Amino acid sequence: MQFNALTPELVSAFEGIVSPAHVLTAATAEAQQYETYGRDHTEDFHFAPDVVLRPGSVEEVSAIMRLCHEHRVPVTARGAGTGLSGGALPIHHGVVLSMERFNKILQIDERNLQATVEPGVVTEAFQNAVKEVGLFYPPDPASKGSCFLGGNLSQSSGGPKAVKYGTTRDYVLNLQVVLPTGDIIWTGANTLKYATGYNLTQLMVGSEGTLGIITKAVFRLLPYPQHNLLMLVPFRQEAQAAEAVSAVFRAGIIPSGMEFMEREAIAWSSDYLKIPLTLPEDITAHLLIELDGQDLDELYKEAEQVYGVLENYDVDEILLADTAAQKDDLWKIRRNIGNSVRYNSVYKEEDTVVPRAELPTLLKGVKEIGARYGFKSVCYGHAGDGNLHVNIIRGTLTDEQWNVGLRQPISEIFELCVKLGGTISGEHGIGLVQKPFMHIALKEANLNLMRGIKQVFDPHGILNPGKIFEPTVA
Ligand code: LAC
Ligand code: ZN
Repeated sequence: MQFNALTPELVSAFEGIVSPAHVLTAATAEAQQYETYGRDHTEDFHFAPDVVLRPGSVEEVSAIMRLCHEHRVPVTARGAGTGLSGGALPIHHGVVLSMERFNKILQIDERNLQATVEPGVVTEAFQNAVKEVGLFYPPDPASKGSCFLGGNLSQSSGGPKAVKYGTTRDYVLNLQVVLPTGDIIWTGANTLKYATGYNLTQLMVGSEGTLGIITKAVFRLLPYPQHNLLMLVPFRQEAQAAEAVSAVFRAGIIPSGMEFMEREAIAWSSDYLKIPLTLPEDITAHLLIELDGQDLDELYKEAEQVYGVLENYDVDEILLADTAAQKDDLWKIRRNIGNSVRYNSVYKEEDTVVPRAELPTLLKGVKEIGARYGFKSVCYGHAGDGNLHVNIIRGTLTDEQWNVGLRQPISEIFELCVKLGGTISGEHGIGLVQKPFMHIALKEANLNLMRGIKQVFDPHGILNPGKIFEPTVA
């Protein structure tokens, strides 16, 4: 793709659209603030935008898109920048379109159990707002306190609750989208059913800003589950922790959280947060299991069943959290594993996913591959979904080992996922960092379909160029 450089005329035109206060350049903006727009939470990448635009209305987004389409200027949409696959990095520079001013919950429709929101609303703020009226928006990525709903839509984000409730994809009903031509469309209808042609709503979800700019979303909601129980289960053998996961489901229980944490994952995170946790020497992994529902007695019965399953494994004393504060601490430790790993070292996070009962084979394979190629990994994740986050620690690896040497072992991990019926990303997306491995998950015929779709939506290829797949056959 040939793109055009930003001209002073275009910058003036942008100022006319969004006002000069919302046009930032390296020359005019405060250096540290500007630098942030070139980063997300992926490794230590930085790509400087030529200009950052902060539109405040759909009409402004439309006018910006029309100009960029006409002048062949790349546009990379940005939410809160918490992505883990480099989706928000402006690798071809151009415009970073920050959606931070789209921060309103427009309507909570209690009659229909729905809500209409702008994409710059923080996920947890949305959850709290609907909870006030007894409703529940389940998707809860680890970064829920800072990530935006728009980013969650772009990446099809999940989180611990996905195991019972599904991911962002399962809650979206309808999206307002601005196309590169400036056209403003709604992708579907505000209904629980939709049989009216191709499902453009679901096509947008997970498209990582490559097809259009989401400016509004309609989500469905659930009644808020009144009760939950949380247990932390220490295992002496990591493999058994992985095996116990599918056994719980086979016993007829669907937990609202079923998280796996290797010893180091939980230890690093509790150290990082300074939340003390007793970790006996012989414990190699934990499962964090949450049950939720409207009837506490029922939950205790389910917990008994879970205990019954766990009796078959070599587990130490199970901690049943009995205060809200203790539950909060345990979830905080779980959610901050990624941050604690980042605090300890630069790392690559692989977002492997397999059918749940294949998790033990995946975990064993990851460790074998690591041993063979000489890298250390810290593994944790949404075990109930078969979604294992493999954190490869940079440690003392050289640039060459880090940038080139890991290609082969990562390929082998992904090949194993595919062999087991899984794929290369469950919830973090492909973005920049998983792009070189797409051929492992998908055939050229699949990629060509995606290329065709991209061409229809974005004929000049200006939207988030360089992400997910190469625009033409290599
Ligand atoms: C988590 C993020 C990294 O599960 O997906 O913590
Ligand atoms: Zn995760």
